[in-house]
Amino acid sequence: MFIHNNKKIISQKIKAKNIAPLMERIEFLREQDLDCKIEIKDIIKIDSIQDSTNLDSTIESIKLHSMNLNTDFTIKQDYAISNKAQNSTLKDSVKRNPITQVSKESAIKNLATQDSTITQTLHKQNKQIKSSLYFEIKNLLLDLKPWRKGPFEIFSNLVKSEWNSSIKFNILKNHLNIKDKVVADIGCNNGYYMFRMLPFAPKEIIGFEPSAFYKCQFDFLNSFIKSEIKFELLGLEDLEIYDKKFDFITCLGVLYHRTNPIDCLKILKNSLHKNGEIIIDSLFIDSDDDIVLSPLSYAKMKNVYFIPSIKALKNWLNRANFKNIEIIGIKKTDFSEQRQTEWINGESLNDFLNPNDINKTIEGYPAPQRVYIKAS
Ligand SMILES: C[S@@+](CC[C@H](N)C(=O)[O-])C[C@H]1O[C@@H](n2cnc3c(N)ncnc32)[C@H](O)[C@@H]1O
Repeated sequence: MFIHNNKKIISQKIKAKNIAPLMERIEFLREQDLDCKIEIKDIIKIDSIQDSTNLDSTIESIKLHSMNLNTDFTIKQDYAISNKAQNSTLKDSVKRNPITQVSKESAIKNLATQDSTITQTLHKQNKQIKSSLYFEIKNLLLDLKPWRKGPFEIFSNLVKSEWNSSIKFNILKNHLNIKDKVVADIGCNNGYYMFRMLPFAPKEIIGFEPSAFYKCQFDFLNSFIKSEIKFELLGLEDLEIYDKKFDFITCLGVLYHRTNPIDCLKILKNSLHKNGEIIIDSLFIDSDDDIVLSPLSYAKMKNVYFIPSIKALKNWLNRANFKNIEIIGIKKTDFSEQRQTEWINGESLNDFLNPNDINKTIEGYPAPQRVYIKAS
């Protein structure tokens, strides 16, 4: 897991450092005359810019935030300014502002060489701001790679995540009896499912996720959405000492990563109020027997410990004192659900399956399929 990987911790810190200024900037723009709104569909869409705004303020904002940014990001900011500086109003604005001197010099140097197609076609002020935000946000989104869960559309940037999580959500959505309920999503990643749950009007949603990196993605998204979702940097095992119980828990794609899945189910059961409900999903092995696969590596994942048959999974739920157990979906993972995209680094399903037989993993096990279960 990433927590034990020093390199990743360092890169997380750098990314976290990048994100704060942009969040402040968005706050700044919001406080001006911009209005941010979101629409939640299969894609979580974040749209903005209802009105044109004052470009001087925008430059001022970039200047203020550039002062605090690390070098890499400052270079990107300079690029954004140089695009804008082709507009004379903006040039003047930069000139008027001595603190942006460094940015201005860099901008003018860039002007000589770079392709100006974009700014040449943008004549109206509000379009320029949109363009500026588009690039700034695109850079931040790229800094926040890999995007495992999604998709999201943010200021026209379509983040086509590795997983099309709407497929999983659509299996769950008819079972989300969460109106006015206290809900927990365990292993919530960047919060995709929690954001999708908002229209179901839960009383409260709390996400549990030990990855600081995914919390960065969540914070970034939530800086636009401004939901009251609480994100706890905690794992499933921490529920034992968490001072709250829940009416409804989702725990998706987590169990097979745990070395003690039955204990985990017991913890989840104890975290539910009486009559509380849980939805889990798990990889499963197709068999009529109550058997469990315990691979060293499964679809190149070395952190998959136990893959039960559906019968074995029901036995686990029984042992954890769940009484009403209902299968709500079964789905083989296909290339529409998990795929290589520009928003992740490295491999995806195509590389995890046997190239000569996509019904098998690269290790020769049955290819991934998941069962979705509701229990109380
Ligand atoms: C396979 S992903 C599933 C993400 C999401 N729930 C879904 O179904 O698409 C597993 C998630 O569990 C998180 N995780 C890792 N260790 C965990 C733990 N001890 N407790 C809860 N979640 C954990 C991972 O960081 C990751 O976000």
